[in-house]
This record gives sequence, C-alpha cells and structure tokens, in this order.
Amino acid sequence: MFKQIALWTLGTFIVLQAIQIDIPETPKVIDPKNELQAPKEIQALLKTSCYDCHSYQTEMPWYGNIFPMSLEVRSHIKNGRQAANFEAWGEYDEEKKQKIYKGIAKTINFRMPIPMYLKVHEEAKLSQKQRNAIKKWAKSYITEEER
Ligand code: HEC
Repeated sequence: MFKQIALWTLGTFIVLQAIQIDIPETPKVIDPKNELQAPKEIQALLKTSCYDCHSYQTEMPWYGNIFPMSLEVRSHIKNGRQAANFEAWGEYDEEKKQKIYKGIAKTINFRMPIPMYLKVHEEAKLSQKQRNAIKKWAKSYITEEER
C-alpha cells in the first residue's frame, strides 16, 4: 500500500513537470545600446537587485525548472521583463519610460525587489539608503507636471 502511494505520488510529480510557463525567447543579439544608462552606483544596484527579472540576464535557479516552484519563478521573470526590461530600454517610448520611473518610485520601498525573492537572494537586498538613492534617481526623470 505504502509503495503504491509513493509511486503514485512520484508519478504525479513527474507528470506535473510538464506544466511550464514559457518565458518569451531571449533575442539572439542584444544591442548594448538599448540598455538603460544610469549613474554607476545606481546601475550597479539595478544589476544586482533587479536584473534577474528585469533584463535578459536572468540567472535561472535550479528550482526554476521544477514544478511547482517553476511557476512562481518563471511568472516573475516573464511579467517582470514585461513590466520593465532594462536591456530593452532603448525600444521604449517616453510614455513607457515615464511609467517605469513612476513605478520604481512607487514600489522601491516595498514591493521591489519582490520580498520572496529576497529571502533566497541575500545579495539582492537593498539598504534603506540604497532604496532612497534609487528612488531619488527615478524621480529626477519624472516630468514636472506628474511629479
Ligand atoms: C524576482 C523578480 C523581480 C525582481 C528581483 C524585481 N522585480 Fe520588479 N517586477 C517583478 C514582477 C513580476 C513585476 C510585475 C508584477 C508586479 O507589478 O508586481 C514587476 C514590476 C515592476 C515594476 C512595475 C510596477 C508598477 O506597479 O508599475 C517596476 C517599476 C519594477 N518592477 C521595478 C523593480 C526594481 C527597480 C527592482 C530592483 C530594485 C525590481 N523591480 C526587482 C519582478 C521582479
């Protein structure tokens, strides 16, 4: 009986692996000119704390390929890139850029980087000072009438 349950559980687990969220394919050639340019300190913070989900430079963790964690991880990457891809910045119109700058100012103190991600990515944690610096930088680009 126990063996049957174990086998059944294992079988279900294997079948469930077929459920996958596809991340849109990364372009073969990424034009470095399209990358967001920010002061060195800001850029470094974005790279260590945001690029896993907001660029093409995603470091997929091993559990990113295993159901059910894969659903969480992959939807973060897919939706994160859609909301803002700092390596596709040059392709965005002014409206989209404004939306992202405002989004950064709004989310940096609490929703971004995603708290659950920070639990497993110690290196991506930001101090209050660093968050303030990112916020100040983003706000400086928000056009006057909207600030
Ligand atoms: C673990 C993945 C992940 C990381 C790391 C991450 N984000 Fe996000 N981000 C997302 C996802 C998913 C969304 C879209 C869903 C949402 O808005 O919650 C998003 C949305 C956003 C948005 C749009 C929000 C809005 O409401 O307009 C901004 C701006 C943003 N992120 C900025 C950042 C910045 C800046 C960092 C780094 C300091 C960062 N994110 C780190 C996954 C991530």
